[in-house]
Amino acid sequence: MRILKPTAENIALAGRALVSGQLVAMPTETVYGLAANAFDEVAVARVFEAKRRPNFDPLIVHIAEVEEAGRVVSSIPPAARELMAALWPGPLTLILPKREELPDLVTSGLPSVAIRLPASDLARALIRAAGLPLAAPSANPFGYLSPTTAEHVASMLGERVDYILDGGPCPIGVESTVLDMTGKVPLVLRPGGMAVEDIAAVVGRVDIFDRAVAKPTSPGQLASHYAPHTPLHLVEAGCLGKARPRAGAVALCFDSASLKVLSSSRPGLFAHLVCLSESGNSLEAAAHLFSLLHDLDKGGWPEIWAERLPEEGLGRAVNDRLWKASKK
Ligand code: TXA
Ligand code: MG
Repeated sequence: MRILKPTAENIALAGRALVSGQLVAMPTETVYGLAANAFDEVAVARVFEAKRRPNFDPLIVHIAEVEEAGRVVSSIPPAARELMAALWPGPLTLILPKREELPDLVTSGLPSVAIRLPASDLARALIRAAGLPLAAPSANPFGYLSPTTAEHVASMLGERVDYILDGGPCPIGVESTVLDMTGKVPLVLRPGGMAVEDIAAVVGRVDIFDRAVAKPTSPGQLASHYAPHTPLHLVEAGCLGKARPRAGAVALCFDSASLKVLSSSRPGLFAHLVCLSESGNSLEAAAHLFSLLHDLDKGGWPEIWAERLPEEGLGRAVNDRLWKASKK
């Protein structure tokens, strides 16, 4: 494994590696992805193996221009076209009918494919250098926290990846919003970096998958996913003071206001307090989420106690990841 600085030479090198069937971890605006040529079944199989990922979990195909969608997708309904025009490049993944030529391994046998055009210039430069659509799941072992730095990828996947293109920390920090466009009404399968409000502004009605009433059809909807090894308990906003943590536990507050209330009202309840965003900005909270959880997981705390964010904008994606990381 080699970590590459993002020079033109190294991007070309990584592009050639992808053409020859190797795996490259690439930075995107959301999280690092583990990329392979989407049309190379052996390379795609190596992605599953590197992640120890069950083969039933389909991958997202990344493209660099809207026109390339036709290489992997068989038809694009008008609403999907509008979303592509309005919100791509960006953290929005669309589920659309797949082209037959795309290997079934990429979509785990589903007739649909997940496709996205990342906002990261570096990701698009790599896709262009390879000249290929790239199948890339998040570059973490299956079920564990997603990586938001090259170091996260290196420590989690090590020699199972050929190159890591180092683009620094990912600015958004949570995965893309996955939107199923194959039904009558667009359906959010996974809340993520693109706020549902922004999608609704383009297409009008949007349904949100509700795990209370529906069966999961995509592993991004599984109850336990993106989880740290340290037990994590999730409580309502402002309720950390009512928690009954084990001695030595750490509290993950939303903002510094909440942290101050907790430290003055319940001094000593937690051994350590941290917050996701000093100023209470959900965008910033999303950007810090996985990095903070990686650090806390390495810190040897017996438990992590976290509070929910307001359920709006990126707060929805952060709450979804905290819930999936939590003990049920
Ligand atoms: O931001 C992201 O989306 C990152 C970066 C690397 O692009 N990628 C990512 O990929 O999070 P991954 O594989 O960790 O998550 C893909 C999600 C999974 O929940 C998967 O089940 C769902 O997309 N998915 C993929 N193809 C699907 C399909 N055909 N139908 C329904 N869900 C699908
Ligand atoms: Mg993932």
